Amino acid sequence: MLRTHTCGALRAEHAGQTITLTGWLNRRRDHGPLIFIDLRDRYGMTQVVADKTTQPEAHAALEQARNEFVLQIQGVVRERPADSRNADLATGGIEVVATSVTVLNAAKQTPLYVSREGGEDETLRLKYRYIDLRRSRMQRNIILRHQTIKFMRDYLSARDFLEIETPMLMASTPEGARDYLVPSRIHPGEFYALPQSPQQLKQLLMVAGFDKYFQIARCMRDEDLRADRQPEFTQLDIEMSFVEQNDVLDLIEGLITELVQTLVPHKRVISAFPRLTYQEAIERYGSDKPDLRYGLELIDISELVVGSQFAVFANAIEQGGQVKGIRVPGVGSYSRKQLDELNEVARIGGAKGVAAIAVEADGVKSSIAKFFNDEQMQAIIQKLGGEPGDLLVFVADPSRAVVAASLDKLRREFAERLKLADESVLHFGWVYDFPAFEWDEEESRWNAMHHPFTSPRDEDLALMDSDAGNVRAKAYDLVCNGYEAGGGSIRIHRRDVQAKLFSLLNISPEEQQRKFGHMLEAFEYGAPPHGGIALGIDRLILLLADEDNIREVIAFPKTQRAEDLMLGSPSHVDERQLKELHLRIIEDEK
Ligand code: AMO
Ligand code: AMP
Repeated sequence: MLRTHTCGALRAEHAGQTITLTGWLNRRRDHGPLIFIDLRDRYGMTQVVADKTTQPEAHAALEQARNEFVLQIQGVVRERPADSRNADLATGGIEVVATSVTVLNAAKQTPLYVSREGGEDETLRLKYRYIDLRRSRMQRNIILRHQTIKFMRDYLSARDFLEIETPMLMASTPEGARDYLVPSRIHPGEFYALPQSPQQLKQLLMVAGFDKYFQIARCMRDEDLRADRQPEFTQLDIEMSFVEQNDVLDLIEGLITELVQTLVPHKRVISAFPRLTYQEAIERYGSDKPDLRYGLELIDISELVVGSQFAVFANAIEQGGQVKGIRVPGVGSYSRKQLDELNEVARIGGAKGVAAIAVEADGVKSSIAKFFNDEQMQAIIQKLGGEPGDLLVFVADPSRAVVAASLDKLRREFAERLKLADESVLHFGWVYDFPAFEWDEEESRWNAMHHPFTSPRDEDLALMDSDAGNVRAKAYDLVCNGYEAGGGSIRIHRRDVQAKLFSLLNISPEEQQRKFGHMLEAFEYGAPPHGGIALGIDRLILLLADEDNIREVIAFPKTQRAEDLMLGSPSHVDERQLKELHLRIIEDEK
């Protein structure tokens, strides 16, 4: 090799040894006859010094060198004098006295500073990703990603799981997003779809008797992107035979707990993940992915304000809705303007506004106080447990979903303003008993809330004909700090139930046969009871790494507009390629 050690390896015990290092010039300090540089590679940083009087050639080479030059440095390790040791650096007790310096490659002035992070536009970082990735934060994230995936592989392999690959060129699957399609050259007019997940194939692997499967699976979904969504992302995909819901939850809980304790010991994972039904999660937090690190729970005051003078409250309840509130400690002194800002937050959730009551030592301050007598006001305050200094905020709406969504937004907003969430905690939890179906207003039909292979709960099967909206599914999500980190379910393994569910989703028998014939057929050849889950690896690493955008934990991510700024994709292709694929571009009519 061109080096004997890495830039993170040398210690006092190496003093006196002649060594060779390679790496990038991180920073140079020119003190005339002495030049110091920090040489960097992914293992760390080592200080190198060249002395003009003793090693004029090495000194001359470093005089010419600039940031990000790739250098090979031969020299002798020497202990630093006590007053110039750097305790922040693993190699801070030594330096290398250069005897020869070889420039392996020069570098132009880089568009990004490697040693000084932040400030620049993200598009620049994405265009020059290979430079951005040299930065210590990105190196840390990418290394953590490797460690996480390796941990998962080891953990599952030790428990008899088999890693099995499934194809990328697949058929369209109903995971809920738009497919990325790949035109077939050999079959004119026909397309493969890239997998939104290996859902059907992992189920068929259970029918094949593999019993415990996992895969680090790449998934592609053409959907609107957000901070926690990429068009291609990675799942830890798992499927198991002969299991019930708790078997899957217990396995994942063990995996996650040990993973956090091993890889990010500075983080605290709350063990025994709380398990909430979907209904409970919505009632208490207004969300099916609540942040469990803080309280601010939603409290229903509907029964206290039925028929109230305050029309907003009374009407909401009269129309089948609700009035709910949260108690926010210590912000009773919010100004008019600060209260107005809350209206904006609530509107994101669909509500028309927020009503607030500031609890004071000798009464209340509130624009809605005039609608309530003392007794009513006391009852409301008591219900929320309000104390002097608190602000009680309420949302009323004819739609319970709007009340929940708006208070969820407010809850997250207050937690952020008041720094209620302990950043060192990973508070995982389970949400289960999701509704099996949700009504699609636009299309006037039922959709599967998870996916159509999810089993309804046995005791709810009978409701499928009469009351589909109240059928609960054997579906569960892993949530953490307000994110959905994973989701899965116990599956249907009987043909009759699967066919019935497809029919409920308005999929005709012909379409069932054409799209899912293989599944229906497989269930007739000895399909074991089975279930599984998929964890969003990118989101998990975001949480472990304390990032708030999954682009920071993906080596080569796409922008919000699904572009790769470095490769320039998507891009136009040659006419010849299109012809081979039997494609013609139709220009957008402008
Ligand atoms: P689901 O669609 O819930 O389930 O996906 C599982 C998990 O994958 C992550 N995820 C994403 N991460 C980044 N970008 C995206 N666009 C994205 N979409 C999803 C989330 C999510 O919880 N086949 C089923 C799993 C099963 O039933 O076993 C599935 O794919 O963290
Ligand atoms: P008004 O009677 O118009 O002065 O409104 C009194 C208060 O009710 C204002 O602070 C409004 O922001 C608030 N408000 C309006 N709509 C709602 C709603 N849907 N839920 C709770 N409060 C609301």
